[in-house]
Amino acid sequence: MKGLILSGGKGTRLRPLTYTSAKQLVPVANKPVLFYGIEAIAAAGIRHIGIVVGDTHAEIRAAVGDGSRWGIKVEYIEQAAPLGLAHAVKISQSFLGDEPFVMYLGDNLLNKGITPLVREFEREKPAAQILLARVPDPQMFGVAELKDGRVVRLVEKPKEPIGDLALVGVYMFGPEVFESVNRIAPSVRNELEITDAIQDLIDRGLEVRPHIVDGWWKDTGKLEDMLEANRLILDTFDRRIEGNVDVESRIEGKVVIEAGAVVERSVIRGPAIIGSGARIIHAYVGPFTAIMNDVEIKDTEIEHSIVLEGSCLRDLSNRVIDSLIGKNVRICREPVKPSAYRFMLGDNSEVGIRW
Ligand code: TTP
Repeated sequence: MKGLILSGGKGTRLRPLTYTSAKQLVPVANKPVLFYGIEAIAAAGIRHIGIVVGDTHAEIRAAVGDGSRWGIKVEYIEQAAPLGLAHAVKISQSFLGDEPFVMYLGDNLLNKGITPLVREFEREKPAAQILLARVPDPQMFGVAELKDGRVVRLVEKPKEPIGDLALVGVYMFGPEVFESVNRIAPSVRNELEITDAIQDLIDRGLEVRPHIVDGWWKDTGKLEDMLEANRLILDTFDRRIEGNVDVESRIEGKVVIEAGAVVERSVIRGPAIIGSGARIIHAYVGPFTAIMNDVEIKDTEIEHSIVLEGSCLRDLSNRVIDSLIGKNVRICREPVKPSAYRFMLGDNSEVGIRW
């Protein structure tokens, strides 16, 4: 079997970060989301992965390389425009050949991996196997209707309720899918939809097997979900302190402090991770916070947040919460009159000031 990871797309819901960076490289618990997918596919014994890339191809290639780090071979497939998940399959046909494959959305996370699902697919050899999860808000997802253990209908964002089984971003296909992706027409949003391709398999009388996932699944395409994924992963960590922590600091609970990080006169309350080269000075880092490499947090309190490399938060009088802060961002309080807010923010930035 081969792997196909989708790492193109527009990423509109994570702007402004996605103007300059791939959303699949935003770190969850200090590791790019994409790497969790690569590791899950490699753990299932799949050794050859194609990564579909778009505008952010250079950054993804630089981060992933040839895959040797995971003992696998990675090839890149360029998608000229994000024309849909089924379009990504279509342009990958020459890479995939006649082999069955697992398609993994590069911004999705599944806590239990995919190994038993891949084995089940190899054993049963259906035309497709889709993963489903029960969700409280099915009208926001592609939803599957089941009958006698088979998928009979897929509806994208259903207006009338047809159940609560939403499609998870991991799919397995046999080569039959190529005929379907070549037959379907673009949807109203001008994309070739994977739900339409799977519906076409069903309409051709082919077997589409459902598998309801146990454990959690997260699509990290928007801020709240990214923070939740960060929370779920940090919670699985064991305590590991390798950086320099002075005697005046207190480290509570499941905290990872990487070698080369410095913590002085601070409280860090886990689950939390502090990357190498980070400097936490007279600060409070609260639960569910991931601080990447070379970040400085000084005279500031922060919790339930992700801060990317090289950023600096200094002398803030209110606690920072529920935030995703990009690379090399500076948020500082300056002792200069008149007191005021001074911003330099990119398009679609968001600043929340709570009283
Ligand atoms: P989505 O999150 O559905 O789409 P998007 O990345 O365009 O984001 P947004 O809705 O915020 O604008 O895509 C799921 C995954 O598939 C994601 O990793 C991007 C990838 N993708 C492609 O590689 N090619 C495509 O044509 C599309 C639509 C998505």
